[in-house]
Amino acid sequence: MRSHRIAAIPADGIGQEVIPAGLEVLQALAERSGDFRLDVTSFPWGSDFYRQTGRMMPEDGLETLKGFDAIFFGAVGDKELPDDITLWGLRLKICQGFDQYANIRPTRVLPGLTSPLREVAPGDIDWVIVRENSEGEYAGHGGRAHRGHPEEVATETAIFTRAGVTRIMRTAFEIAALRPRKLLTVVTKSNAQKHGMVFWDEIAAEVARDFPSVTWEKELVDAMAARMVRRPRSIDTVVATNLHADILSDLAGAVAGSLGVAPTANLDPSRRFPSMFEPIHGSAFDIAGKGVANPVATFWTAAMMLEHLGEAAAANRLMTAVERVCADGVLTADLGGTARTADVTAAVCAAIRGAN
Ligand code: IPM
Ligand code: MG
Repeated sequence: MRSHRIAAIPADGIGQEVIPAGLEVLQALAERSGDFRLDVTSFPWGSDFYRQTGRMMPEDGLETLKGFDAIFFGAVGDKELPDDITLWGLRLKICQGFDQYANIRPTRVLPGLTSPLREVAPGDIDWVIVRENSEGEYAGHGGRAHRGHPEEVATETAIFTRAGVTRIMRTAFEIAALRPRKLLTVVTKSNAQKHGMVFWDEIAAEVARDFPSVTWEKELVDAMAARMVRRPRSIDTVVATNLHADILSDLAGAVAGSLGVAPTANLDPSRRFPSMFEPIHGSAFDIAGKGVANPVATFWTAAMMLEHLGEAAAANRLMTAVERVCADGVLTADLGGTARTADVTAAVCAAIRGAN
């Protein structure tokens, strides 16, 4: 029997609720399949761990995680602690330490969900946003000088390297080539940012030569935001910088009906290190501990993890179950329903057990 080692890190806020829900569903899938098992170890890292130990994870945390096939991550962020401590101490540390340079964010309007866009029905949108996840505007380069003085200055330098841009562009073309429409939109802001963004456009053209089956086009990020709302059906696969794709993917989540359904994969496509799978929504402390968080983003995330682990049949079964449950109207409050996390989880497990 195939076996996969999963490191579960629920971390903060509703991560504590949605990751256990995700593990329940994964367990149901493994039992239903009978062909694979998941060997799960949970780690109590996050903001409470920080309060106890002064660190978001142990010093040798990355070393520990190296032995796993995938990381199933909840959310990070705390009411009392600054974001730069919590984020850089755990999530970004894992992303950067394991060179998870490709952040993959699919968007679809699932059956039973309502898009705020009047003319968009379930099935109308099927996008994959490929976000550069290791450099760009998130490189952490910059500084502050003359603090507190009128001449105080702060810089935040975006870093674009040939290696970094080429590899994300390759990943995006590879993904586009495997999708039915084979259409890739390369998003930049090369009219205003004449160094880094022109560099992106040039590298896109270079990489495109290796993918003759893919139709590709350029779009400026501001125009892309408008196009996502005005002509959503014209979009398929999108590649953009760390910051641009961060913004566009929240817009995508909103267009799909709720950030509560949006999944993400932080991939090291070279597979030197484990990849990390997490719902996009964050720790949402306003609803944490109430049992009302939407677990659908985590289930979809779990499906992406199964896909990465080579369990495509189980991934498909999971998404079919999720779609059936959403279509049946078992929806949490963010989607206008009254179901609780446990209700949605039980319904998805039942659909998995009953599915042929
Ligand atoms: C996301 C989030 C994070 C990001 C934040 C919490 C740093 O917004 O996953 O999109 O921008 O990477
Ligand atoms: Mg974001």
